Amino acid sequence: MTIRASMKKIALVGAGARALHMFAKPFAEDLRGLVAPVGVYDSNLVRARLLGEAYGIPVYDDFRRMLREAKPDTVLVASTDATHHTYLIAGMEAGCDVISEKPMTIDAGKCRAILETEERTGRSVTVTFNMRFMPYFARVKELLRDGAVGDISHIALEWFLDRQHGADYFRRWHAQLANSGGLLVHKSTHHFDIVNWWLGSEPRDVHAFGDRRFYGPTREERGERCLTCAYDRTCELYWDGSLDDFVRRYYLQAEGEDGYIRDRCVFGEHIDIHDTMSVNVRYASGALLTYSLVAYSPVEGWKATVTGSKGRMELANLYRGPQAELAAEANHTIRIVKSDGAIELVDVPVVAGGHGGGDERLRRMLFVGDVEDTLGQQAGSRAGAMSLLIGDAANRSIAAGGVVSIAELLR
Ligand SMILES: NC(=O)c1ccc[n+]([C@@H]2O[C@H](COP(=O)([O-])OP(=O)(O)OC[C@H]3O[C@@H](n4cnc5c(N)ncnc54)[C@H](O)[C@@H]3O)[C@@H](O)[C@H]2O)c1
Repeated sequence: MTIRASMKKIALVGAGARALHMFAKPFAEDLRGLVAPVGVYDSNLVRARLLGEAYGIPVYDDFRRMLREAKPDTVLVASTDATHHTYLIAGMEAGCDVISEKPMTIDAGKCRAILETEERTGRSVTVTFNMRFMPYFARVKELLRDGAVGDISHIALEWFLDRQHGADYFRRWHAQLANSGGLLVHKSTHHFDIVNWWLGSEPRDVHAFGDRRFYGPTREERGERCLTCAYDRTCELYWDGSLDDFVRRYYLQAEGEDGYIRDRCVFGEHIDIHDTMSVNVRYASGALLTYSLVAYSPVEGWKATVTGSKGRMELANLYRGPQAELAAEANHTIRIVKSDGAIELVDVPVVAGGHGGGDERLRRMLFVGDVEDTLGQQAGSRAGAMSLLIGDAANRSIAAGGVVSIAELLR
């Protein structure tokens, strides 16, 4: 590969699903000749080799050697959540700018270490909040910024994951707080970021409740993993990963390397994250957020209401489940009810591509720089911190009770 001066030299950390689909593959296809992936490192060398060989990226078995030899100007981190800070900090200390997959990290301590390193080294941290780039969320931001409901006083956001998407978090590394910070960090970082961005404000105080009602050791019929389970014929969540070529090659055949099991039992005793959560947040602007997340719903999607001094905005997207087809129309409609009762419907055209074309826009803005950022979609470390800290504060509130102050977590 000929590397031109204008091309970003990127070292990739992590060679799993996200690294492949969001970065390595598009680098070799749509962005070919526009970015220079100079190395990939993953603690699982089998996965690193599969990805590196498939997309022509040099493979390293040592992160620091990759920095010394490949001389990247950007380190792109797409490894498991609890490991992000290690590579973000080491990358900045080596003189690179860094890009982190969401969440930036999983708790306040690691978050403070990232912010301190950014300040000390003068390098920059970017967090890839791809939901900001999805046309529906972006259109809502534009309307709220332009005063569609006036001064926002309250947002109610209800998110529901179904037993396909939701269950997968309980099969994988995400099922343990130490790896992912639980769904309130791993998943809700997207949702909290969207609310922070829509409001243009920062969270102050957080209170939460959380429970485990469906996954974890809630039934006797369970095993260690689906592949060897005695209940394969009766368990409604039985999943045969070996039928999927990618899962078989990247995970099942790579187990010998690190012992990571991709299909652990969703009813296992090791699970310590919640599946039912309710969170309240007060913002610096005075706005309040009422948020909930359940991970075993029969339908997948979300609903939100934004109330302000001049009316309310009603939002809903159903992605999967019995009502999803009926809801297709609503999925690209924003409904605004003005204070006098007048109703305005705003249609958001459906665009082809990953996340409604959002992923491609994000990549071009990040790596090529030919997309203008008129809505402030590019997120830095402060936004990364503010969304993950709501999750961390919520986890603390669930564990110990009481209201948790975000400023205290940053101190
Ligand atoms: N923005 C989004 O919509 C989105 C979607 C999916 C995943 N993600 C994020 O992408 C990241 C990766 O998720 P994934 O779904 O690809 O998971 P994955 O399990 O497929 O991949 C994670 C990779 O990290 C590697 N790893 C584990 N510990 C490591 C360490 N100490 N050093 C280096 N590598 C290590 C694993 O071997 C694995 O290859 C996560 O942070 C996740 O939150 C973001």
